[in-house]
Amino acid sequence: MDIALGTIPFGTTVDEKDTFAILDRFAEAGGRMLDTANNYPFWVPGRTGDESELAIGAWLAARGNRDQMYLSTKVGARPTVPGDTTLDSAEGLSAVAIRTAIEGSLRRLGTDHADLYWAHIDDRSVPLEETLGAFDELVKAGKTRAIGASNLHSWRLERARNISAANGLTPYTHLQLRHTYLRPRPNAVIPETGHTLTTDEHLDYLADTGVTLWAYNTLMFGAYTREDRPIQEIYDHPGTTRRLETLRQVARELGATTNQVVLAWLLADGHVPIVGVSSLAQLEEAIGATRIKLDDELKSRLDGVS
Ligand SMILES: NC(=O)c1ccc[n+]([C@@H]2O[C@H](COP(=O)([O-])OP(=O)(O)OC[C@H]3O[C@@H](n4cnc5c(N)ncnc54)[C@H](OP(=O)(O)O)[C@@H]3O)[C@@H](O)[C@H]2O)c1
Repeated sequence: MDIALGTIPFGTTVDEKDTFAILDRFAEAGGRMLDTANNYPFWVPGRTGDESELAIGAWLAARGNRDQMYLSTKVGARPTVPGDTTLDSAEGLSAVAIRTAIEGSLRRLGTDHADLYWAHIDDRSVPLEETLGAFDELVKAGKTRAIGASNLHSWRLERARNISAANGLTPYTHLQLRHTYLRPRPNAVIPETGHTLTTDEHLDYLADTGVTLWAYNTLMFGAYTREDRPIQEIYDHPGTTRRLETLRQVARELGATTNQVVLAWLLADGHVPIVGVSSLAQLEEAIGATRIKLDDELKSRLDGVS
């Protein structure tokens, strides 16, 4: 199954029993990819950012299934000042920060390696050569199998991959950005600090290079279907009305939900949608999306609305 499971609420708002039930069902349905970070959810007062990795580590230990899962975690955005709920004191992407952070993540996850290790943010205070050199050391030491960049502009990704190629270093092969079917207004400012929206230039770059996109906030916190989650202001433009109409029409034709069509559309583009769920019912809806095949006519109808 080509969707990744987001894990921000695991071990906090989703308790251990429900976390285990969600992870069990995900694995049973053929899910392997888990997305966490060394700081989830540090922004909630009273939390450290250890919680999500610890919850996953507890589940892997209980089930003894580390080798069946594909673990992705991140470095760069963990506060260095305890209690800081902003990114102001973030550890960043120096070689020291990366070498230190991986040890904490592996300890909490209870494993000797990640499958994919992400730079969570862009850190322009550190030369890319230093960051990429530190990541390359981790790959050579077997502490991660691959590396990716999250929240990076396309020109920075291109520069990073050029530096890797020129120096024989492991390249970023994955990019993680906020991406969904609705398109934001150009230059719209998102309320969530640290989030970076996918641009047309990113998508062009991905198609040209084969870098894989892991898309987050795919279901816009549930806003496609829930009255208690209004669609954010950044999507307030006439194209949104047209996209929602088409989405709902396609969903009716397929006998699917709008959320499922969004996920199927992302899958059809070759992206990995990360789904953040807090219940088995939400997970089941996401799993159902992997059984939906958008034929060429439906795909181009969805693509063609702007
Ligand atoms: N790289 C980055 O900077 C970054 C940033 C953000 C997220 N992420 C990753 O992406 C994952 C998902 O992020 P997100 O939480 O922003 O994603 P999201 O999928 O947009 O939102 C998840 C929330 O939407 C609601 N929801 C999910 N499925 C639903 C359904 N079928 N029907 C109705 N509501 C539904 C749930 O809210 P309730 O729980 O309130 O019911 C759920 O917690 C995270 O866990 C993390 O792994 C990465």
